[in-house]
Amino acid sequence: MNKNIAVIRGDGIGPEIVNEALKVLDAVAKKYGHTFNYTSVSMGGCAIDEFGDPLPETELKKCLEADSVLLGAVGGPKWNDVPGDKRPEKGLLRIRAAMGVYSNNRPAKIWPQLAGASPLKPEIVAKGIDFIIVRELIGGIYFGKHETVEADGVKTARDYMVYSEEEIRRIAKIGFETAMKRRKKLCSVEKSNVLDTSRLWKKVVHELAAEYPEVELSDMLVDNCAMQIVKNPAQFDVIVTENMFGDILSDEASMITGSIGMIPSSSLGDSTNGLYEPIHGSAPDIAGKNIANPIGTILSAAMMLRYSFNMEKEADAIEKAVDAVLSHGYRGADIMSDEVGLKQVSCSEMGNLIAEGI
Ligand code: IPM
Ligand code: MG
Repeated sequence: MNKNIAVIRGDGIGPEIVNEALKVLDAVAKKYGHTFNYTSVSMGGCAIDEFGDPLPETELKKCLEADSVLLGAVGGPKWNDVPGDKRPEKGLLRIRAAMGVYSNNRPAKIWPQLAGASPLKPEIVAKGIDFIIVRELIGGIYFGKHETVEADGVKTARDYMVYSEEEIRRIAKIGFETAMKRRKKLCSVEKSNVLDTSRLWKKVVHELAAEYPEVELSDMLVDNCAMQIVKNPAQFDVIVTENMFGDILSDEASMITGSIGMIPSSSLGDSTNGLYEPIHGSAPDIAGKNIANPIGTILSAAMMLRYSFNMEKEADAIEKAVDAVLSHGYRGADIMSDEVGLKQVSCSEMGNLIAEGI
């Protein structure tokens, strides 16, 4: 197959980790007889420097025309003083909205080789950590009106959280469908004791539940969920939640697996053109040092093959190569420990090892 991939390296460690993922994709193309064409797209702080805009129309167009988009990370302290609507993160929000990728899928799965890296007690880890957060990605408070007004010398800021039944229904459907392919347990997370959007969320999720009698549905308030994720993560199979709750809970969920650097994500809408990115940020403090963990991005590329290109065995090959490299004791700095037999490798060495394993 011939596929066009828009590649957004972004800022900080973005270029380093994306280059390793491309190495792995090239190894897959060679082994399975595919052609992947890469088109570089400038987005984030680097686009602000180049064009004065975190995502100019010409760059966005390349993403909309591609078969899929692979993204590293955007942002950094250099652009901290840029006004809100021109910040690097705005490019990310704009591309998510323009691509219509309302469903963000963030797995929290512990690799047995890294069980020791989890900050949780071994007896909690031993019960298993394998769940997915399905996060609504293009609605809610991120996309409601933002404003700061001033009256009598006092500033007041407002951010509006807005959800329609339709927006809730389509993401809830993804939650149920994802659960059907797994252990058939769906936990809907909201704050219905306080928020109207959450009360509507709960109503719509329960209406839809009638179509999925095999799925065991539960409701959980977001504050309780934050606690349950560290207390008893084994109880979760699929969590479905709104944009900001999903943002917060997915960072928490990634940490209990040992390292945020290991976690990929897919963002999809109604077309097969998806956006694939690791869930971590641009880590400016370690940028350019060749010590970042490229595995989250490499696993995001695997998700791209599986969900956008229907290349199941190719995706499996990447995941197996990661598994083998970890089993052989290779570790990036973030997942290194004093366990015997471990070998610390750089970002590019990790990419080489995984590409060789394809
Ligand atoms: C994420 C990030 C983004 C988000 C930021 C960079 C805008 O934290 O992908 O989780 O909040 O969605
Ligand atoms: Mg986040």
